[in-house]
Amino acid sequence: QILILDFGSQYTQLIARRVRELDVYCEIHPYNHIPTITPDIKGIILSGSPSSVRDAEAPQVQLANFRHKLPILGVCYGAQLMAQTSGGEVQPSSNREYGRAKLGTVESENPLLKGIDQHSQVWMSHGDTITSIPENFHIIASTDSVRVAAFQIDGEPTYGIQFHPEVTHSLQGKTVLHNFVVDICGCSQDWTAASFVETTVAQLKQKLGNDKVVLGLSGGVDSSVAAMLIHRAIGQNLYCIFVDNGVLRKDEFSGVLESYKTLGLNVKGVDSKEQFYTALAGLTDPEAKRKAIGKTFIDVFDQEAHLVEDVAWLGQGTIYPDVIESVSVKGPSATIKSHHNVGGLPDFMKLKVVEPLNTLFKDEVRAVGRTLGLPEAILGRHPFPGPGLAIRILGDITPEKVAILQQVDALFIDGLKREGLYDKVWQAGAILLPVQSVGVMGDERTYERVVALRAVTSVDGMTADWAHLPYEFLADISNEIINRVKGVNRVVYDISSKPPATIEWE
Ligand code: XMP
Repeated sequence: QILILDFGSQYTQLIARRVRELDVYCEIHPYNHIPTITPDIKGIILSGSPSSVRDAEAPQVQLANFRHKLPILGVCYGAQLMAQTSGGEVQPSSNREYGRAKLGTVESENPLLKGIDQHSQVWMSHGDTITSIPENFHIIASTDSVRVAAFQIDGEPTYGIQFHPEVTHSLQGKTVLHNFVVDICGCSQDWTAASFVETTVAQLKQKLGNDKVVLGLSGGVDSSVAAMLIHRAIGQNLYCIFVDNGVLRKDEFSGVLESYKTLGLNVKGVDSKEQFYTALAGLTDPEAKRKAIGKTFIDVFDQEAHLVEDVAWLGQGTIYPDVIESVSVKGPSATIKSHHNVGGLPDFMKLKVVEPLNTLFKDEVRAVGRTLGLPEAILGRHPFPGPGLAIRILGDITPEKVAILQQVDALFIDGLKREGLYDKVWQAGAILLPVQSVGVMGDERTYERVVALRAVTSVDGMTADWAHLPYEFLADISNEIINRVKGVNRVVYDISSKPPATIEWE
């Protein structure tokens, strides 16, 4: 595997993504928490950083610990750090360099740059630049404005590059990473979904033995794939719990429960609708609704987990981005757990935790799910918030409002699927507004509810644009909703992007 030392760059996760795309396993660790270097680590990549190597507080690593032992590739800050700590000089760039640049000269016989075209487009993003390099460094690529765009230290597989090979705007960045990871480090490209399943199931068998595991299914991808993996390892000793919180999509509880059963999972469906409706009654503040749902879920899950005798483990669908977030360079605070709280936690939270997906990115989770035979209906599902329709009904929640919104939502989602639009949008749903509007149906004046439709395109939910759905489709769906859902006489379409709006309305 490849070890990526993170100095806090926004692109560090992308380096890991690109290495994994080469079917090579890698892990990101903060520069100040370096793991033991085991023989399976074949090379090290030093990430970029928002810091400057000229700062007194600049993050540092002792490169001498790795040099001559393992191949090293420094990217941006990583390269500057190598140059500076070896006796070179790093200065603020006369003009800050962001964006596209073209490599001018490339030493294409160099192992790192094999196959890279002269004038290849690369992506720069740095405020400092390497102005002089030590004698034993030699330049292997330059651009018009960056003389030291790439270097190698003589006689050792230690390289630095000023550009970012991990972003897609560096058109041959993947070749550079391939050259480093496969040719220079000698990693074998055998890290695939199938090999992940095989090794993880074996590890889980070893770890869990005859122990029992309890796991909460949500209908989403992560918890479903986690359950399938654990199920492969320990079969019926995995006890899955799927809670109907009363604010799921129409027919979702029965439909998803059925597919879980078909997959052979030992799953118990718990209908707790009433308990959730009682907890939500009269609440209008979005955060209060979220808290009520969270607390009620914990109560229900705790009660159910207690029914499984001698359970030892809690299974969770935590994925790699959550893990990276919790051990981030940004400070140790995020990793400090409030141990003094343990006494007040529900019993199930005192279980040992097993998280088989905690090294995977989202698309890798999907690939693993596919290998395990999960249906596309689960794998390709849009994200759906934990508090469900409760944060899509503005104002207080009643079963009657939920029923109306479920019908609207189902018509919208079915329509998107029918027209081949579902997979083109990142997330879609309907919102029940707390207003009524005047309409006319037949000869009658109506005074009924308004619903908003929301569909967005996005990569990760952090930013989003409203989906430019065809007018024809919007016209048909609007008609269908007003004709078929009693109590709704007006449909509007949300054309706000995020930011400044958010995807959900609450
Ligand atoms: P926003 O509305 O913040 O949503 O743009 C971004 C993504 O997060 C989802 N979301 C939630 N998911 N619990 C969840 O599990 C929540 O309370 C919650 N609020 C928003 C939202 O559906 C979108 O995918």
